[in-house]
Amino acid sequence: MRVGIVGTGKMGGEVEATAAARGHAVVWRLGSKENSGGSGLTAERLSSADVVFEFTTPAAAVQNLLALAARGSRVVCGTTGWSKDLPGVMEAFRRGGGALVHAANFSVGVRHFFELATRAARLYAPAGYAAYLVEEHHAGKRDAPSGTARSIATIYEMEAGRPLPVTSVRAGTIPGTHRLVFESPEDEVEILHRARSRGGFAKGAVWAAERIAGRAGVYEFGELLKEAEALLEGR
Ligand SMILES: NC(=O)c1ccc[n+]([C@@H]2O[C@H](COP(=O)([O-])OP(=O)(O)OC[C@H]3O[C@@H](n4cnc5c(N)ncnc54)[C@H](OP(=O)(O)O)[C@@H]3O)[C@@H](O)[C@H]2O)c1
Repeated sequence: MRVGIVGTGKMGGEVEATAAARGHAVVWRLGSKENSGGSGLTAERLSSADVVFEFTTPAAAVQNLLALAARGSRVVCGTTGWSKDLPGVMEAFRRGGGALVHAANFSVGVRHFFELATRAARLYAPAGYAAYLVEEHHAGKRDAPSGTARSIATIYEMEAGRPLPVTSVRAGTIPGTHRLVFESPEDEVEILHRARSRGGFAKGAVWAAERIAGRAGVYEFGELLKEAEALLEGR
């Protein structure tokens, strides 16, 4: 695939390395200077890429996504902190005929964490355990709580019928840690996901880009994973 990258920060760099390692050609990358308000997403630039990765900031993502949608691009967006604008972005992609895969977390390990959190909430909440989540990220992360923490909190609330207290830590260079704890007077149970690097996020994002080749529509990463699991199981 010919790949374009919007956002030349930590994740943009990681995606570039992962895409190249899988044999894809990175044909352009756009930083904030060349792309104020999405102005760098020209028809000419977009026609030279089969897929565009968007890893920028909550403030920039929506403008970029609307510009990409209007040009009918295929996009993998991992930027977090813009979920309130998701309905408008989805509508724009449907109108433009392109494709979007979005996720607050492209790590397969975190996806399985979501399944464990669902099951754990079903078991421990009715048994009287109190629950909380602590998430830790590097000092430069702009949104808090993380998109992943919000997803886990939503899962918990749906299963347990009450909100999940969430604490965010921003320090140093932590790639991303989520610790869901259930506690009673007698014992404590923890589910922990600790990203060792950004490699897992980039791998998932590149895999998602490969899955949407030739397709239109809007997908959350988990839907694509479920689709692939069903294929493997012959369902
Ligand atoms: N979904 C996942 O699996 C996952 C995993 C990790 C991180 N994330 C999210 O991905 C996003 C990026 O993370 P990161 O660690 O790469 O952050 P980062 O290192 O701060 O990089 C963000 C980059 O976006 C650039 N940017 C800002 N506005 C832009 C625009 N209009 N056009 C092009 N580039 C623009 C910034 O450029 P300047 O420096 O010039 O401003 C910066 O280089 C964050 O929202 C983070 O939460 C998602």
